[in-house]
Amino acid sequence: MIGIVKLKYSFDIAEKLVLLKLNKNSIKKVRSHFPIFEAHPNLVYLDNAATTQRAQSVVTAQSHFDLYENANIHRGIYDLSNQATQKFENDRTEIARFLGSGNANTVAFTQGTTASINIVAQSFLAPRLQAGDNIVTTIMEHHANFIPWQMLAQKYQVELRIVPIDKNGDLDLSQLSNFLDKKTKLLAVSHISNTLGTIHPLDEIIGLAKRKDIPVLVDAAQSACHFEIGVDPLNCDFLTFSGHKMFGPFGIGILQVSEKYLADMMPYNYGGGIIKDVKVEKTSFRNFPHNLDAGTPNVSGVIGLAAALEFISGIGKPDMQSHLNKLTLYALDQLPKVPGIEIIGNPKRRIGIISFNLKNIHPHDIASFLNKDGIALRAGMHCTQPLLNAMGLQATARVSFSIYNNEEEINKLVASLKELMRFWS
Ligand code: ALA
Repeated sequence: MIGIVKLKYSFDIAEKLVLLKLNKNSIKKVRSHFPIFEAHPNLVYLDNAATTQRAQSVVTAQSHFDLYENANIHRGIYDLSNQATQKFENDRTEIARFLGSGNANTVAFTQGTTASINIVAQSFLAPRLQAGDNIVTTIMEHHANFIPWQMLAQKYQVELRIVPIDKNGDLDLSQLSNFLDKKTKLLAVSHISNTLGTIHPLDEIIGLAKRKDIPVLVDAAQSACHFEIGVDPLNCDFLTFSGHKMFGPFGIGILQVSEKYLADMMPYNYGGGIIKDVKVEKTSFRNFPHNLDAGTPNVSGVIGLAAALEFISGIGKPDMQSHLNKLTLYALDQLPKVPGIEIIGNPKRRIGIISFNLKNIHPHDIASFLNKDGIALRAGMHCTQPLLNAMGLQATARVSFSIYNNEEEINKLVASLKELMRFWS
């Protein structure tokens, strides 16, 4: 019996996070939780929609487990394994709570948003599709929330109905009510566009689907960090997001399923850990979420994700949102001062993400030029080729903000873009 071991190294995340209020004076303190800025003091990191930086408390929590508490879970009869199992399952409960749910069994761990969406496609949707059915999604989706439905549509002779956008970069919902009918087997929509930053009116969209009893998937990859999310708060049935876009580790994400559809989640990946009984003739399986975890799960990833959510709770989503709003408005005010700039889209509600182009300069050249000033941003299609094509574009440059960014960095961005325009013309 090893009991609870007194560890050589301990940490107290709560103590570190006391009143991390986001204001001009505290950004320095917030940045101090992210060692990357110590290693690269001149880095202007504006690619947070691709991945956020890793908080120290996340890595500490993970390495603490890996170095001092490591054992496989749900398999061992010895103390170390029991403690690891307990920690893993406690974190599932904490994550459910973060999603506004008291039911930890609604939460499955996956490799990330893409994996979560593909699981819904294979585990939930494929078995119930029949020729003549339809799936509804939007032109604004990331490829991860588009291609899985397109592939199912092709395989099962199902129609893919795609909500278009208007000229401002908002979804054009005028046809949505007609798109949703008795043959609609799923509506899949993102919360926030990863390319334009548009915040979709989920109340309205989900309300229309729910009135017809259509299951709804929300891709919350770009909102999970700073919006209240969860299948209950959003009134959806499937919710997906990734740890690495909220200060957590790569390779871990969440699929939350509403209680209504828990029993419909079939195993899609077979192996150990998901079974009730295996006979030569037949195997029976555990229920969701335990029927998805074939093989050893990413235990320290889950521990890192739980630490990331604790970090976020320490700051508070309302403060995070207002900080991002402030930066977005400031950037929208300053960027037009760059000669030849075109801001892409002017949606009714947007947060944290702005795409733009400069006259006669390819976005890749923008990104390379800004790189010399230590400014990191994304350039290209942003995994949203159908959206860009619908807008008549091949590529854009994109900046995306997080809690550690500030106005000074936006000033540097604008100065660098102005210099590029001078240099190019
Ligand atoms: N989905 C990520 C992005 O938008 C990778 O950049």
